[in-house]
Amino acid sequence: MKMMKFTEAAPTAGLALSWRDFIPSLFSQKSRISLEEKLASFIGVDEVQIECSGTAALVVALEALKMLCDREYVVISAYTCPWVALAVIKAKLIPVLVDSQSEHFGYCEKSLKSVLNHQTLAVVHTHLAGRVSDVEKTITIAKSVGAYVIEDAAQSLGAKLHHKSLGTFGDIGFYSLGVGKGLTIFSGGVVVSGNEQIRDALRRVSNNLPRHYLLELRRAIELVAYYLLYRPVGMGLAFGRHLRNKLKRGNLIQAVGDDCSFDFPLHKVGAWRKMVGASAADRLPDFIAKTKKIAEKRLAQLTMIPSISVVLDAEGGEGVWPFFIVQMPSESMRDKVLERLWDKGLGVGRLFIHALKDYDYLAPYFENCKIPNAQIFASHTFIITNCIWLSERDFARICDVISEQVAHV
Ligand SMILES: Cc1ncc(COP(=O)(O)O)c(C=O)c1O
Repeated sequence: MKMMKFTEAAPTAGLALSWRDFIPSLFSQKSRISLEEKLASFIGVDEVQIECSGTAALVVALEALKMLCDREYVVISAYTCPWVALAVIKAKLIPVLVDSQSEHFGYCEKSLKSVLNHQTLAVVHTHLAGRVSDVEKTITIAKSVGAYVIEDAAQSLGAKLHHKSLGTFGDIGFYSLGVGKGLTIFSGGVVVSGNEQIRDALRRVSNNLPRHYLLELRRAIELVAYYLLYRPVGMGLAFGRHLRNKLKRGNLIQAVGDDCSFDFPLHKVGAWRKMVGASAADRLPDFIAKTKKIAEKRLAQLTMIPSISVVLDAEGGEGVWPFFIVQMPSESMRDKVLERLWDKGLGVGRLFIHALKDYDYLAPYFENCKIPNAQIFASHTFIITNCIWLSERDFARICDVISEQVAHV
């Protein structure tokens, strides 16, 4: 099957920028409404705070909780973004890994209950890939020891549970505005809380962050590059070349961007990037509706394939669809699919390469943790983009390759 071509699917469905976003005041009355106001109304909260990344938003959240409560353990999922663990360590708190389920990234309830005690400051509850996971259960368990719940909705801005935005169920919620997310300012984060005392602490932490003019300039240039390259031909240049280069060298961690570092910036976000984000935010509801429609069709194709499973929303959930997480019956079948598709520019790849304790840079923090389910989940799953310009024909090809692998199960 010949699949090399000049266009490349984006690894996730992100909202493209328009040139109008860079000079919105000429075209729109809405341009006087700030990114903060637009996101607060979109999420359904009184106010939001913009930080320089989702990771920074989590650090700010943890620093705020430290001001309110003298506990030091923070529970995180064994299968999540490595930045989450780095944020906890950066806030000088102790991360505690809790195993996931073997067929879902959500917490294994028994493992979660077994680690909580009256030294647990917070439980970070994660919704990956736009999927709605059972945050209400986590809240009930966390509250039994008086721990706060931080909802990590980094990949799930716009997703809802019982018609209420994810990120608003816990004491604090945060979202990423990083590149590849639904709405991006190249690198950014949003933090929210429904509790006035927590909001006051969040503001105080954020107000103490420095400005970083050089880095802000770099981010502004990167945002312009995102506008220029986030399209079928540009993606090969911006993303595909790097990906194939890393895959050729067998460096999977760099290929997916899991080469995280403790040395990440914490600074204020400049007004210009916020203005661009505010303009693009007007198109977010339509974009979410459009990608949902596409996802429904693609999901129907995927669910026809026997022996695989696709991670879906918890009951009452209405997620967003940046990409699909697919679980194969075995690691070797998963790897065979990737061997055929990962470097083909079709938006097939992996989410996180490992469960958290299996990254070299995190291993020292989690030496005695047993997380077999998260390791199974990491080794059996791969992702397929829900990028809007991936053609029906290409999606059907992806399904064919998966079907061939599971044909003999
Ligand atoms: C689940 C999750 N949490 C936190 C983060 C950190 O967000 P950011 O990359 O904006 O720092 C990410 C990043 O993708 C993520 O996927």
